[in-house]
Amino acid sequence: MSISGWARRTRRTLLAAGAALSLAAGILVGTATTSTAATQQPCDIYAAGNTPCVAAHSTTRALYAAYNGSLYQVRRASDNTTKDIGVLSAGGYANAAAQDSFCAGTTCVITVVYDQSGRGNNLTQAPAGGAAGGPDNLASATAAPTTLNGHEAYGVYVAAGTGYRNDHTSGIATGDQAEGMYAVLDGTHYNGGCCFDYGNAETSNNDTGNGHMEAIYFGNIKVWGYGSGNGPWVMADLENGLFSGANQGLNANDPTVNDRYLTAMVKGEPNQWAIRAGNAQSGGLSTFYSGARPNVSGYNPMHKEGAIILGIGGDNSKGSAGTFYEGVMTSGYPSDATENAVQANVNAAGYASSSGATGPLAPGSRISLRATTACCTSDYIRHDDADSQVVISAVDSASTAALKGDATWIVRAGLADSSCVSFESANDSGQYLRHSNFQLYLAAGDGSSLFAQDATFCPQSGHNGQGYSFQSDNYPGKYLRHYDYIGYIASDGGSNAWDSATSWSDDTSWLVAAPWA
Ligand code: AHR
Ligand code: AHR
Repeated sequence: MSISGWARRTRRTLLAAGAALSLAAGILVGTATTSTAATQQPCDIYAAGNTPCVAAHSTTRALYAAYNGSLYQVRRASDNTTKDIGVLSAGGYANAAAQDSFCAGTTCVITVVYDQSGRGNNLTQAPAGGAAGGPDNLASATAAPTTLNGHEAYGVYVAAGTGYRNDHTSGIATGDQAEGMYAVLDGTHYNGGCCFDYGNAETSNNDTGNGHMEAIYFGNIKVWGYGSGNGPWVMADLENGLFSGANQGLNANDPTVNDRYLTAMVKGEPNQWAIRAGNAQSGGLSTFYSGARPNVSGYNPMHKEGAIILGIGGDNSKGSAGTFYEGVMTSGYPSDATENAVQANVNAAGYASSSGATGPLAPGSRISLRATTACCTSDYIRHDDADSQVVISAVDSASTAALKGDATWIVRAGLADSSCVSFESANDSGQYLRHSNFQLYLAAGDGSSLFAQDATFCPQSGHNGQGYSFQSDNYPGKYLRHYDYIGYIASDGGSNAWDSATSWSDDTSWLVAAPWA
């Protein structure tokens, strides 16, 4: 059987039953109780509060009870064709199975996040800006799997370099006009780069001065404002400053928030703005700031320009990381009561994720990883004793004990993401499989976040239908591959020789075998 849809941060789990792998919880996806169609979704709630959505973006669900159109578009690497992904029913969840089948055996990126408001404020690949060239990268369509009340869906996974934008919008606040916005994010995926934003920015892709932006920011950069603890924090990007409160620097009322699913809100009107946030899975919102505009020239009145950004700063700064599931922008300053009702709706959407790998890839398992390409079905991933390279070579029962050890790995919870995996050498304790310049090496962990990311791989069903493919945590378009018998992370077509599309599906598919040592 095919092992469909296994990926990190999902409830779908694989169990080993003897030699056979069977899909366990994944089967429940198809039989989960279909929730009664909501009579009100977030944008219906904002409309009832007289602050209608003027942009509504989500790859996971409809944000209007009546919405029955496309949520987003994906493009696959194998033939560069695109497909719109819609909803299972009006007002319902994303049809992730349509993506799974379109992207089977290849990789997909998200090319468009459609605007559900009817105003055409779609988000597409961000162009170059004053701070960084472009166009920006597109998000892997499979890097942020999630479930909503048991229905599978995918978020927008922003690795550094990824960004979406719309510079020609309709109905978005300009000047000092009032607006509100919320986003549901992964509170555990962030960094200290500038600037993982969702909201209002410059139409020129340049920093045009204080007050020319008003966006939700999430992360732990401390260059401008910051809050209590070590972060991450929800702040407002008002241009030339991330504000955690009245002014830059520390505002202790803005706490560290790292809920797996996080609702973040920013709103602004003449000489008044606010930050609110809460756990998207349960409970209400807290107000971390509500008050006057910063006491610095340019922010009162504001000079909003009305472009929309996702994953980047106003000037296309793109060093940031985060994950976006849904969000809207409104016309008018939403009341706290309206936002509280939106938060209740988000709670009811039932966002949930997996607790990590199970079955043959459960942390602590000793395994060997066998290639599936026809050339190489007796070959296993092993490290070289002569150097630190990682290669594939034949191993059999007559092999030396050293070789058997070199081809054996202990599965660890992913160093950068515990729902994924890392591979520690069975005979070189403390040394892990990691990539560097996209080649695989065996190296000792150094405690850095770069090492952790380079050594973390997220298992998915094998691209050729066999075993598993292992997606790089920090380069989600790349998978663990052998090429000319050497180990790499590789995309399906790309600039390096080892990104060759020939045999990519086979070269990136691995069987989990009994450990040689
Ligand atoms: O305000 C913080 C950042 O500063 C903005 O996002 C960017 O445009 C500028 O570099
Ligand atoms: O392998 C790609 C990148 O190359 C790694 O993330 C980094 O360690 C090195 O610069």
